[in-house]
Amino acid sequence: MLSAKNLFQEILDDDDAFRLFCSIAASGESQGGWENGRIAALVPASQRALAPKIARHGADEDKHGRIFNALLRKRGLTPVPVPRETDYTMLLEQHGIGLAHEQLGREEPLTERDIITYLAHSRVTEQRASEQMRLLRKHFADHPDLGRAVRMISNDEDNHLAYCHEELLRFAAAGHGRTIQHILRECALAEIRVYRDVSLAVMDHMGRALGWSRAKAAVLAAGIHAVHAYERLHGWRRMVTLAPPERRDALGGPAVPAPEFA
Ligand SMILES: [Fe+2]
Ligand SMILES: [Fe+2]
Repeated sequence: MLSAKNLFQEILDDDDAFRLFCSIAASGESQGGWENGRIAALVPASQRALAPKIARHGADEDKHGRIFNALLRKRGLTPVPVPRETDYTMLLEQHGIGLAHEQLGREEPLTERDIITYLAHSRVTEQRASEQMRLLRKHFADHPDLGRAVRMISNDEDNHLAYCHEELLRFAAAGHGRTIQHILRECALAEIRVYRDVSLAVMDHMGRALGWSRAKAAVLAAGIHAVHAYERLHGWRRMVTLAPPERRDALGGPAVPAPEFA
């Protein structure tokens, strides 16, 4: 039967597919880590209080990158180069979503608007990360090799999402509500397209690694298109709402270390 759980189990059982999965995940996480590290370093003076939380956000993503690499190492595998068409973070940047790497590479302080852009971009992408990790956690929380990693990353992504809600609400209360809604909407609509394209590309690579029949590949591609149709019509709205999170000050302390992985 075709289900998220069976699909992931198939990937898990195959060295090439697992290697590609972890390589893509590790690369996305460490790109996020680098971006947030740079944003923390370039925070404008007016938002200095936010810098430690942004740095913590970056430290978490770096840790996730190390965890995915550690999962590979544990199986005696080394990462493979990430195919361009599966590089979610890079493709989002190419669509002008979030802050450009070129800007983050400079030594100029960011503006308050840049910080809002970072938070809105994160509000959307952390929603995706949180949902994906919850799906993995639902099926693999007790898995002997993956369980701990999945539970830890999932908990972190929920923290990141809570933090974005909280900080964006703070900016909204300070009068930036319209700007925030505008950026969130633009970001969400671009993200659902990039997510569809990346999903199709990843499935294509997995299908070849796992020797899927044309019929199976076609069913999966149809599923991805159906998700996108739903998200374009309605689902994107869940990515642009703001509500006070249950977890307050979720990134208020230092990153929880993961010595068993990295
Ligand atoms: Fe992450
Ligand atoms: Fe995250």
